[in-house]
Amino acid sequence: MRIFSGIQPTGELHIGNYLGAVKQWIDLQNENDCIFCIVDLHAITVPYDQRELADLVLEKAVIYLAAGLDPEKVIIFVQSQVKAHTELCWLLNTITPLGELYRMTQYKEKARSKNENAGLLNYPILMAADILLYDTEIVPVGEDQRQHVELARNIARRFNSTFGETFTVPKEKILKEGARIMSITDPKKKMSKSDSKESAISLFDSPENIRKKIKSAVTDTYKTIKYDKEKRPGISNLLTIYSLLSNTKIEEVEKEMKGKSYKSFKEELAELIIKELEPFRKKRKEFLSREVYVREILKQGSEKANSLAASKMSEVKGKMGIK
Ligand code: TYM
Repeated sequence: MRIFSGIQPTGELHIGNYLGAVKQWIDLQNENDCIFCIVDLHAITVPYDQRELADLVLEKAVIYLAAGLDPEKVIIFVQSQVKAHTELCWLLNTITPLGELYRMTQYKEKARSKNENAGLLNYPILMAADILLYDTEIVPVGEDQRQHVELARNIARRFNSTFGETFTVPKEKILKEGARIMSITDPKKKMSKSDSKESAISLFDSPENIRKKIKSAVTDTYKTIKYDKEKRPGISNLLTIYSLLSNTKIEEVEKEMKGKSYKSFKEELAELIIKELEPFRKKRKEFLSREVYVREILKQGSEKANSLAASKMSEVKGKMGIK
C-alpha cells in the first residue's frame, strides 16, 4: 500500500503527535511503500519566525529518524523541495468549492484566533495535493486531520469524474486509542503544539520536566482510577497515555492501579513516559551530531519524491488540457 503522511515543522513534537501519528508510521514502514513529509509550506500559514524555519525543518527530520523511521525503507522529504505540491495545489484550487473550505473545523479555529489569510483557507487543498500526488491509498493521522483527508477524497473523486480516472482515492487511518490525546492542563482540549508548554509533554522534555508536568496534570475530585472520557476527561487521558506507552489495555491498567492514589498513579506514569522517551532523547542527540547525513537523506528523499511527482503532474496537466 502507498502510505503518505506529514507533520508541520513548527512547534515541538509532543506525545500526541507521537501516539496519534508517528507511532503508526513506524509500524507501517515494514510492509508498505511509505512517504513522510515535513510540510514547511503549511507551517507558514500562521505567524512564524523566518530565521528559525530551516532549523526546525532539519530538526523534524532528526526526529523522524530518532523515532525509528528507516530511510532505507521510506522516503523522507521536505514539501517545499518538491515544486509539484504547490503546482498541483493551484490546479486543485480550480475545482474546489469555497463552501467546502469554509466548513473546515481547523480553518474556523485558526481564522478565529490568528490573522486570517488566503493560505489558511487553502491549507487543505495543499494537503490534498500532498496526498494525491503520490497515489496515496492510506493516510495515517490523528483525529484532527480526518476532515482534511475527507476533503482530499472529495477532490480526487471530483477530478476523476471531471477529467477522467487520474487520482487514487485516499483513506485516513486513525487509531481507536491515541487519535486524540488531550491537553494535560485542560483535558477538554486536544494536546497542541501551538498551546502553552505546560499543556503538552514534548518528546524531548527532560525527566524533571515530565515529572513536574504530570504531577500538575488536571484530573478530578473522584478517588478511583477509572476511565470515563465524558465525566472524567483528565484521568481518562492519563490512562490512555499509560495504556499506549505500556502496550496494555486500559482495563488492565485500571486493574493494576486499583486502590492507588492519583499521586502514585501519576508518579508511575511519569516514570513510564521518561523510560519510553529515553531512546528518542539518545538517538536525537546522535542524529543531531550527524547533520550532513540527515541532509543527505532529505536530498535523496526529495529526488525520489520529485520523480514520482513529476510523472503524476504530467498526467494531471495532460488531462486538464495544459500541454
Ligand atoms: P500536525 O503537524 O498538526 O500534526 C501531526 C500529526 O499529529 C497528529 N496529532 C495528534 N494526534 C493525537 N493527539 C493529538 N493531540 C494530536 N495532535 C496532532 C495529527 O493528526 C497529525 O497526524 N495538516 C497536517 C500536516 C499535513 C499532512 C499532509 C498530514 C500536511 N499535509 C498530508 C497527512 C497527509 C498537520 O497540521 O499535522
